[in-house]
Amino acid sequence: MKFFIDTADLDEIREALSWGCLAGVTTNPSLYARTGGKLADFEAHMVKIAEMCEGLPVSAESQAKTTEDMIADGRRLSALAPNIVVKLPICAEALAATHQLASEGVRVNMTLVFSAPQALLAANAGARYISPFVGRFDDIAEDGISQLADVVTCIGNYDWSGKNVDDQVEIITASVRTPNHVTQAALMGADIATVPFGALKKCLKHPLTDQGMAAFDADWAKVVAAQ
Ligand code: E4P
Repeated sequence: MKFFIDTADLDEIREALSWGCLAGVTTNPSLYARTGGKLADFEAHMVKIAEMCEGLPVSAESQAKTTEDMIADGRRLSALAPNIVVKLPICAEALAATHQLASEGVRVNMTLVFSAPQALLAANAGARYISPFVGRFDDIAEDGISQLADVVTCIGNYDWSGKNVDDQVEIITASVRTPNHVTQAALMGADIATVPFGALKKCLKHPLTDQGMAAFDADWAKVVAAQ
């Protein structure tokens, strides 16, 4: 399973990239708002991220509400950099826009997906990526992981050749809150997990690793002192 980072914060992206295990970035309007970014700077900010990521897919979300406007946004956003993926929230207008954009070779990440039927509609329309949300189910005391499992199985049951420019659909596990979400997503074979930086750092840490390193350091100090 690949790791994406779910943020629009340049410092977080830079640091996560330095780890050498990042395969892409997802952003959304809330994440951009959190950076304090202005509307006029949105596209330049996306270009900055796309350039930092050197070819890795970077999802930039459209806030358009009509099919026509989504197509126009999609064309403009995807023209900003070759690795920009257009993110659209699932709805009838976005399915129609995805179908058109896919026919033009534009990659679409269909977001705010909460069910297998939504995911199947997105894939049939031509979405290149599908983002089922996990944590928001957990927030309302429902089981996000089992919903994700349904999406992974249903999409994996079919060949998506001819539906988008890459002839494949990848599932991006989204709304990830915990390392356990990452484990569960990988166990079921989800292609990608997009993880906020805080949760990514939690994935890296384990108390037994810290204890082990401290013990090795203490023992090595004895070796050094005995010289
Ligand atoms: C997906 O790409 C979204 O940006 C994201 O994962 C939303 O997660 P949230 O529920 O933490 O806002």
